Amino acid sequence: MIYLNGKFVPIEQAYVPVLDRGFIFGDGVYEVIPVYSRKPFRLAEHLHRLQHSLNGIRLKNPYTDEQWHTLVEQIIACNEGNDQYLYLHITRGVAKRDHAFPAGIPSTVFIMSNPLLTPPQELLLTGVPAITAQDNRWGRCDIKAISLLPNVLLRQLAVDSGAMETILLRDGFLTEGAASNIFIVKNNVLLTPPKSHLMLPGITYDVVLELAQSNAIPHEVRAVSEEELRTAEEVLLTSSTKEVMPIISLDGKTIGNGKPGAMFKQLNQLYQQYKAATMRGGDPVVSLK
Ligand code: PDD
Repeated sequence: MIYLNGKFVPIEQAYVPVLDRGFIFGDGVYEVIPVYSRKPFRLAEHLHRLQHSLNGIRLKNPYTDEQWHTLVEQIIACNEGNDQYLYLHITRGVAKRDHAFPAGIPSTVFIMSNPLLTPPQELLLTGVPAITAQDNRWGRCDIKAISLLPNVLLRQLAVDSGAMETILLRDGFLTEGAASNIFIVKNNVLLTPPKSHLMLPGITYDVVLELAQSNAIPHEVRAVSEEELRTAEEVLLTSSTKEVMPIISLDGKTIGNGKPGAMFKQLNQLYQQYKAATMRGGDPVVSLK
């Protein structure tokens, strides 16, 4: 079952008019929220980022956080599987085609759940290849906009060359992946770019930085140059659906010794523990000590 504009219906029976501004202009925002053991992960943070995206496109939030909480509980309850990923999507609604905002129409709200397929263990043991490309997206990559054409084209470059992700570079600096955030390890220090208009403020990115902080893992949030990326000891990607993954080559060139490194192993272990603690409820224990 999916949720569309106030109703729970089977996905086959869910339709949106062709004049929906999401369809016509890509005029909307979205969130992807992982659910583990039927509990949403970091829901408050995802709803906070949703509000940031809505503010960014000047669209009123159709629901209060309490209403979102209820809807999220309902969509989890009416879908099978302990681990799900929720997709929330809000557009500026249905109106005659005109770029300018229409007045006084309701937004379109869509929520669906799919099984959450986290990366197979095998890929975490071997690591995955990535490629690089110039970041040719717009200047508001902090908005989780549904207009994803540049990301789609950039990610396809990776698929075309048998890689897992396309890592983006702008003006000689790392921004993020086509659908993930990126960390590197240099002289045993975990490095990642600071949040800005040039990248999505990842929820998983925040968790990884919190885990580094609470476990005294040397880390720095600062600009990362292309040179540093290419000569890194380790490269990691993070996202809600991929969690933490090790990248072992860039544009066909091996990173480090070509195997997932010690930093990946430690952070992934911490991440899995954090998840498990969250699922049990209560305050997650974020320290290995
Ligand atoms: N993508 N950067 C981009 C461009 C992304 O699309 C994503 C996630 C991230 C990671 O953010 P988070 O840790 O909050 O998932 C970074 C989601 C999973 C998607 O579009 O399917």
